[in-house]
Amino acid sequence: MIVVSAASGAFGRLVIDRLLERCPAGQVTVAVRDPAKAADLAARGVTVRTGDYDAPKTLRTAFEGAGRLLLISSPELDPARRTAQHRAAVDAARDVGAGSIIYTSFLGVGTEAGGVTAAHHATERHLAASGLPHTVLRHPFYSEAFLNPGLRDAIASGELADGTGGHGINTALRRDLAEAAARVLTEDGHLGRAYDFTGGLWTYEDLADALSRLSGRPVVRRARTDRAPGAQGWLEDQVRSGALEQQTDDLPRVLGRPATALDEAVAAVLAPPP
Ligand SMILES: NC(=O)c1ccc[n+]([C@@H]2O[C@H](COP(=O)([O-])OP(=O)(O)OC[C@H]3O[C@@H](n4cnc5c(N)ncnc54)[C@H](OP(=O)(O)O)[C@@H]3O)[C@@H](O)[C@H]2O)c1
Repeated sequence: MIVVSAASGAFGRLVIDRLLERCPAGQVTVAVRDPAKAADLAARGVTVRTGDYDAPKTLRTAFEGAGRLLLISSPELDPARRTAQHRAAVDAARDVGAGSIIYTSFLGVGTEAGGVTAAHHATERHLAASGLPHTVLRHPFYSEAFLNPGLRDAIASGELADGTGGHGINTALRRDLAEAAARVLTEDGHLGRAYDFTGGLWTYEDLADALSRLSGRPVVRRARTDRAPGAQGWLEDQVRSGALEQQTDDLPRVLGRPATALDEAVAAVLAPPP
């Protein structure tokens, strides 16, 4: 049996979609904080159990019988609390004899521990010490943080404001990362591996070109010198530092195809909702 924790979130739902293409619903269980949010998954034949990272007892029940557990990282921002949540999940999996854990980590944390990624580093170390067979899926920033319907404004104005300093960006779409997770959960040969997943490198120059091609209207990149507010400013700081210019081929190797191209990703974002 495959168990997926935090499956009611955006990434978890995409994993379940891909898993149900690869194995019968009867082999899939989700562990979610609020089962009511997974009623649609239950309707598709998936077993829904309560599994709250803040309530270790629920995790032991939720992970019972797991041959493979996909531990999707918690969205908690406080590193100490997030680490405690992940440790509780790993310990619960070990206590109930789960066959293996596949953990969604973050790019670069194998060697570094600091700031928002500290919990990922601590979790990788705890996982290694647990003795459980495991696979680490290190995610880059999700492309959706940059590619969103707000790009329609750039098409309308003909200008794409760029606060990244023209640096390369190695994001990947949730849907590609979800397909990779589903493959790792259902194929042999992934245990003991740590994958550094990235999409192909792209820049805001590339994005302006893609917007021009897809809209048939000229869109030019305009370098922005002011700092964007909040999370966007923080994200752009990461890009400007050059930290997102590392590219690996782990994602295409696990997918057995190239990661989704920028044009296709942007076209999906610009498509009217169904
Ligand atoms: N690489 C990136 O750029 C990036 C960006 C954002 C997040 N992340 C990480 O990737 C994970 C998945 O991303 P996402 O987009 O799917 O996030 P999301 O849509 O916010 O989903 C988060 C999931 O975590 C669940 N959750 C929250 N607190 C929990 C708890 N105490 N116990 C059990 N489950 C809990 C939520 O359950 P409810 O439905 O009950 O709220 C939800 O299912 C995030 O949790 C975060 O660790 C990565």
